[in-house]
Amino acid sequence: MTDAELYELRAARSADDLWPMLEALYAAHPGYAAFRAELEQAMRAAWEARPAELKRLDLARDLEPDWFQRPGMVGYVFYIDRFAGDLKGVRERLDYLADLGVTYIHFMPCLKPREGDSDGGYSVQDYREIAPHLGTMAEFEETVAAARARGMSVCIDMVLNHTAKEHDWAARARAGEAAYLDYYLTFPDDTLPQEYAKTAHEVFPAHAPGNFTYYEDMGRWVWTSFNEHQWDLNWANPRVFLEMAEVMLFLANRGVEVLRFDAVAFLWKRLGTRCQSEPECHMILQALRAISRIVTPAVIHLEEAIVGPAEMLPYLGRGIHDGKEGNLAYHNSLMVQFWSALAARDTRMMSHVLATHFPPALTNATYANYLRCHDDIGWAVTDEDASAVGLNGALHRAFLSDFYEGVFPGSFAKGELFQHDPETGDKRISGSCASLAGVEKALEAGDPVALDRAIDRVLMGHALIAAFGGIPLIYMGDELGMLNDYGYTGYAPHAHDSRWLHRPLMDWALVETAQSDPASVPARLLTGIKTIMARRAATPEIHGAVPTEILETGHRALFAFARRAPTGPLICVFNFSEQWQSLPLDWASLHGATLFEDALSRAPVGDGNGRIPLPPYARLWLR
Ligand code: GLC
Repeated sequence: MTDAELYELRAARSADDLWPMLEALYAAHPGYAAFRAELEQAMRAAWEARPAELKRLDLARDLEPDWFQRPGMVGYVFYIDRFAGDLKGVRERLDYLADLGVTYIHFMPCLKPREGDSDGGYSVQDYREIAPHLGTMAEFEETVAAARARGMSVCIDMVLNHTAKEHDWAARARAGEAAYLDYYLTFPDDTLPQEYAKTAHEVFPAHAPGNFTYYEDMGRWVWTSFNEHQWDLNWANPRVFLEMAEVMLFLANRGVEVLRFDAVAFLWKRLGTRCQSEPECHMILQALRAISRIVTPAVIHLEEAIVGPAEMLPYLGRGIHDGKEGNLAYHNSLMVQFWSALAARDTRMMSHVLATHFPPALTNATYANYLRCHDDIGWAVTDEDASAVGLNGALHRAFLSDFYEGVFPGSFAKGELFQHDPETGDKRISGSCASLAGVEKALEAGDPVALDRAIDRVLMGHALIAAFGGIPLIYMGDELGMLNDYGYTGYAPHAHDSRWLHRPLMDWALVETAQSDPASVPARLLTGIKTIMARRAATPEIHGAVPTEILETGHRALFAFARRAPTGPLICVFNFSEQWQSLPLDWASLHGATLFEDALSRAPVGDGNGRIPLPPYARLWLR
């Protein structure tokens, strides 16, 4: 079969996923016919330009479409400069990642950002160039190929919602070129902005309030959902779709395997709404997915929408988009519920939320599971979910902020507030995994028991995200227990943004400590997390397509679920408290466990009296 024939087969396969979406979005636009022809041309050109090695990977992935759901998948997330200086440094650190069991690496924003504050790189000036301090595009390709040769797929961010105001399109819009003005959402006066503002959601109420910015030189208001320097694109213009589709194919042809589409909830604006997660967002995303399936099938999409469950699931394809939208989306609820249950020593809300809002399995998609990332934690707990388990939503959210800021009496955590909004009372939290879990306070107090508990919290969390279903993402430094980095306040471009508290420079000395002192915190965490990920790879029930069923344990402190594999279930139990707990062996038998050996520690379970003892922060995987 020729390359051309293969392309035609794929184009035919995905045609119905692509064209109806574009027609619904753009057919009424006067430029539709030309747009369609140009898009088809761009797709063919990208296929022709695709390197042979990547075409081979395309075929491999077509033959193994569940590759990203397999238990062997383990992700690691970092800023290139903070992890290893630059791309060359990353190549030198691949051994470290391989040793950790990593098969997926997310380079945090690495395309050329604007100068000065760039929102951690999310204010992109050029999508076709690498940030100069990290290296060149040629080096990027070399690094991606080196990672691929080690069995690691590279994920990078592609910001869909906005560009930097210094991007060429924005500069031309600012200079008054009509075609480019139509790339953005600009207004001659503030009548419409004021209308939109009545309902539109504010992202950074504290450091970038409002959604619009007035530019005197242009005499216009520009839609800026995030920071002033991030100009929202006008996705109602098919030229914007075409430009971004071309960028996507360009990046895919550099060897990127996972595209993390940033801030996808904001793509479509509609008067009288929050301007978030409008139906057109899903049509755009399905169309982009279909284009990747046709031209670069090795590539999958991770959609970043940090929203409540009902709003998040559609990014993994619900209703007419089932199986056709994102392959991955962040499981924000699992993350929030983990920290909530940990503070409250009570898993009832976690069980309720995960059992009632999430389907046991998804079509051709799975979650990106994480405890910490580069962003703050917003307490996305609804009043309904809180009251379903007898809590008051507002009070519980306030409790969580206080607890993780470290000011609630008896809190084990140390963190800082992010974007305190006095109007809504909303307080988000920054902090590293270890500091939020208690490692920092325990070290300060020199309290060995508290330190054991803190380490167990971190390990329990990793055992949870490793087994739940989806790709577990290790956030750089968490595997070594890196603490909050208070230095950010001394650096002007970061000082206003407490998220830099948990974006430290990698401390490679901790790796040496881990090697030389097995009793040290880094050693215990590194060995623990490595073991968890290795066991995950050896546990087929953990495959992402296997249904996850939340189980009732009858104990507030215990959270449990079963992975219902055809070969029999994997029963996973987690103790969210510093008290010993126990469950009857019969409980586990009833749910289908037959082998009373923990697949995680490989030790037998059972106390000889018909019970399974669960030490503080225990994690148990039973077959
Ligand atoms: C995403 C990123 C966040 C950034 C925002 C704007 O939410 O995770 O760090 O501030 O998009 O691009």
